[in-house]
Amino acid sequence: MNNLLQLCQEEVDALHTAGNLTPHTIDQVKSKYLGKQSELSKQYQGMRDLAPDQRKDAGKQLNIVRQGLESIIKEAYILAEQTEINAELAQALDVTAKGRPLPEGSLHPLTHAYNEINKIFTQMGFSVVTGPEVEDAYHNFYALNFPENHPAITMHDTFHLTEEDRLLRTHTSTVQVHAMKKLQAPFRIATPGRVYRCDHDATHSPMFNQVECMVVSENCSFANVKWLLLKFCETYLGKELAYRFRPSFFPFTEPSAELDIKWGDQWMELAGCGMVHPNVLKEAGIDHNKYRGFAFGVGIDRLAMLKYNISDLRVLYENHVEFLKQFNASL
Ligand code: DAH
Repeated sequence: MNNLLQLCQEEVDALHTAGNLTPHTIDQVKSKYLGKQSELSKQYQGMRDLAPDQRKDAGKQLNIVRQGLESIIKEAYILAEQTEINAELAQALDVTAKGRPLPEGSLHPLTHAYNEINKIFTQMGFSVVTGPEVEDAYHNFYALNFPENHPAITMHDTFHLTEEDRLLRTHTSTVQVHAMKKLQAPFRIATPGRVYRCDHDATHSPMFNQVECMVVSENCSFANVKWLLLKFCETYLGKELAYRFRPSFFPFTEPSAELDIKWGDQWMELAGCGMVHPNVLKEAGIDHNKYRGFAFGVGIDRLAMLKYNISDLRVLYENHVEFLKQFNASL
């Protein structure tokens, strides 16, 4: 009978050595040694034919063997589980395993543009400030000398919010108003940020980016704004530009001009600029007899398109990885 214990143990050991000790194979061994058809079970049945005094001893013997078999099987299950855990751990801790490649990210071209623009202005002694994207008509239009019901207001194709007198700013010139009310003249600020207009084609997006620049001082001039605007564009684009200033109209500047630059054989409109209108200074509480101001506003998306040779603005917002992958940190 003790032979059974030995045989059972040998079978378990053989499975283990073969790397095949699993709950399933152990179930099979268990039913072979402890199941209804097992030798042990037959022995129990045979007890009926024994004399009562022998039966007691035989029963004791059989119980000892049964307990032995049960403990072999129980140990086998534990061993199988441990083997499985060890195998998993060995895999997790295999320091020689080949690593899975992580997709490499890069900064968005517009983020590059923002970073570079902020750097240029900071190096020129400007403070970089921001303002709210949700505005009211006062900051977006009236404080900037737009007469009420002026056609320029509809030209701006404004997104009005459902809340009364709330709109998405159509230009970063709004930050001029906040800055003039908050800062002590003289000051120079650059204010990059998102702006919104109902407009959508290859060169217009309903959300785009501008950087506004404003200087308020006692003696700044139109010559200064022309120089600074051009210098800024040339520094960002990294080359000398063929350019022209065209007389233009903006309610908040007088005189006003637009800057076009030659790109290939085309003129491209890039920025508006001018001397801050005295009404705008007055409205913000700045002594317009003592101080003058100049300002310009440039499209950041346009600048980035020129720098990276992008012909359709919309690719900047579609976020296709294949497109974005081209812009690594060294750009
Ligand atoms: N705010 C104007 C626009 O979005 C651009 C602009 C023109 C800004 C002239 C200025 C400026 O500061 O002086 O079309």
